Amino acid sequence: MSEDALSNINERIQPLNENIKVKKAKKILPSIKDRIQLSNKNTKTIVNEFNKIYYDSKVWTRTYWFGVPILKCPTDLWVYQEILFEQKPDLIIECGTANGGSALFFASLFDLIGNGEIVTIDIEDKRDRPQHKRIKYLLGSTTSECILSEVTALAKNKKKILVILDSDHSKEHVLNELRLYNSFVTKGSYLVVEDTNINGHPVCLDFGAGPMEAVDEFLKEHRDFIVDTSKEKFFVTFNPSGYLKKIT
Ligand SMILES: C[S@@+](CC[C@H](N)C(=O)[O-])C[C@H]1O[C@@H](n2cnc3c(N)ncnc32)[C@H](O)[C@@H]1O
Repeated sequence: MSEDALSNINERIQPLNENIKVKKAKKILPSIKDRIQLSNKNTKTIVNEFNKIYYDSKVWTRTYWFGVPILKCPTDLWVYQEILFEQKPDLIIECGTANGGSALFFASLFDLIGNGEIVTIDIEDKRDRPQHKRIKYLLGSTTSECILSEVTALAKNKKKILVILDSDHSKEHVLNELRLYNSFVTKGSYLVVEDTNINGHPVCLDFGAGPMEAVDEFLKEHRDFIVDTSKEKFFVTFNPSGYLKKIT
């Protein structure tokens, strides 16, 4: 058979094949409406399962910002980048420094923005934390009077302040921090409560009452804060219901 004749036959068969494929597909595949409902039902399960796989792999203990360990999920770091660009805070108060990776991350963004300082507090002193002109390290408990008066002095005359709670994750301590630090947050800015995903939300089932339970109680007392769920848009977050926006 000549090549021309062969291609002629192929051209005539192809539409028939396509037709059969479409008919078969219609029988096998659910309608688009069914597929959307199916996907909504499954989204939460898939997101939760991925959150557990991600958390349990402990990859967040092997995550770095310019070589410094940063104990956060990259999707949350991207959200911080968006918040910082939008808010351009003059000061970030961070409870819980660890290695200083998150403080350095914020300092790097502030360098790009051209404004902003970070005061970060930890009970542990670590020698090799990154030194940066925008970072001030304080040693002590976040809830101690001495630390609070230092923070108050640093916050004086700052127009926009954002607070991040990432120290002791027990409910009692976080609730105490929420009560002590919420007044530093300026209107329109954020009070971010880290690691609300623990104690089964959905990771670390047996942690006991933690950040999420503290947020629940705090929100009952404070109508001036709302949960900004738009900050959970990347599906995976260590801070579900933890991005609190001060509205009044
Ligand atoms: C989760 S780590 C902080 C992680 C860091 N922000 C980051 O993203 O890389 C928690 C830190 O809180 C500190 N910490 C625990 N209890 C504290 C307290 N009462 N006051 C201040 N820091 C505390 C711990 O020493 C630890 O370094």
